[in-house]
Amino acid sequence: MNQQKSVLKVGLAGLGVVGSEVARQLTTRSVALGAAAGCELRLVAIAARDRMANRGFNTSTMMWVESAADMAAIEELDIVVEMIGGSEGVALDIVRNALVAGKHVVTANKALLAHHGSELATLAEENDVGLLFEASVAGGIPAIKTLREGLAGNEFSRVSGILNGTCNYILTRMEKTGEAFDNVLAEAQNLGYAEAEPSLDVDGIDAAHKLTLLGAIAFGQKPNFDAVFIQGIRDVAAVDFTYANKLGFRIKLVGVAEPGMAPRMQTCLLPLNCQLAKVNGVLNAVEFHGSPIGGTLSIGQGAGAGATASAVLADLIDIGRGRITLPFGRPVAELSEINSTRKQDGEDTPFYLRLMVVDQPGVLADVTKVLQNHQISVESLLQQGRSPDDVVPLVMTTHETSGTALASALVAIETLEAVRARPVAMPILPDEVEG
Ligand SMILES: NC(=O)c1ccc[n+]([C@@H]2O[C@H](COP(=O)([O-])OP(=O)(O)OC[C@H]3O[C@@H](n4cnc5c(N)ncnc54)[C@H](OP(=O)(O)O)[C@@H]3O)[C@@H](O)[C@H]2O)c1
Repeated sequence: MNQQKSVLKVGLAGLGVVGSEVARQLTTRSVALGAAAGCELRLVAIAARDRMANRGFNTSTMMWVESAADMAAIEELDIVVEMIGGSEGVALDIVRNALVAGKHVVTANKALLAHHGSELATLAEENDVGLLFEASVAGGIPAIKTLREGLAGNEFSRVSGILNGTCNYILTRMEKTGEAFDNVLAEAQNLGYAEAEPSLDVDGIDAAHKLTLLGAIAFGQKPNFDAVFIQGIRDVAAVDFTYANKLGFRIKLVGVAEPGMAPRMQTCLLPLNCQLAKVNGVLNAVEFHGSPIGGTLSIGQGAGAGATASAVLADLIDIGRGRITLPFGRPVAELSEINSTRKQDGEDTPFYLRLMVVDQPGVLADVTKVLQNHQISVESLLQQGRSPDDVVPLVMTTHETSGTALASALVAIETLEAVRARPVAMPILPDEVEG
């Protein structure tokens, strides 16, 4: 480890939203950051695609690396910061090469770690270097450090959270305005909160990458993105917010990781009085449940240049001070495999169901019969504004059931003659940290 050095030389690959802010911080606040790190953190090499772009910091003293994957071959570098993104390609090459070359790596790349975390953590162990990724989960919340260090003495029963600001913004706006998903998505795109190609966010994939990492650390599991059950927010309609509110709930995209189960990223109903339900707009939140801590909640900015660069700087300071821990809190050889045979099943939970049905006599009896055949019982039923022969929402909540049983019942319900659209189902989560 390099903690005795008076200067740590840093190479930065990727000068976009996050990378350029990291560079601005390193170049304009070098004295303060040096004092925190116990050594100078000197940015000496940079790489991106467009050499001529104005990055908002002085690049004249830095080496421009033509091919970012060659960053690791620069002998004098102590640390390589990967800020390009993507689970494959150049980001993977840079991180692999840097670890093998004995350089510490700092990254914000959750996709890379969710897919290749075990391999990369093994390389870090073998080469006795750090692989630090605080910025990859909810940048403004020190979620990784909280789990891996601050709460390391706990036995976790559950880690859950709102891990995607774009989805949380869209759901918050849909509830507030009564607008349809497509309209609110367009608004989020105009404001720069959603990408032109939004599927990584709205299909729950980005949040599931982050949940993969939290679950791995909390429960000593090998990060395995393919084992995560994922259901994004596209199916939520404005009418669901009205019904959820009548029933005392709010709709959120929530990730849940529990011991011995596959992590699940799902659009859920949360009781209005629980803390997570009050986290609105682009904010993120992570709830930790365990013994002896009980429950605790962290809320903050999940993305953006400032919040993400703040986490990257914390990792660089840790390297400076020699505070380098195993990436997932324990050696890779001690991490278990996730059992993903029934990946939509966590603890049994009640569900919210919305069916679009032709309002005819006998519909309800047909639906409840299918549910009974799958050992699912109905707890409450809401149907308002009867409109014979029109298609109307039929909303119900069930008693506790497994996701697998419900999925199979929904396949049968969809085939009923009166059912005119794919049923929408969302689990109802308990309120473990009340506000
Ligand atoms: N943005 C956020 O709020 C946020 C939050 C948390 C985590 N992250 C993570 O941080 C990482 C960076 O995100 P970002 O938002 O900063 O991305 P970004 O703005 O799209 O920047 C990506 C950078 O990578 C460079 N790049 C792309 N392909 C390259 C290649 N083949 N060779 C060299 N350079 C290449 C681009 O170069 P050019 O500029 O020349 O095109 C650009 O500078 C990702 O892993 C992301 O998931 C981002």
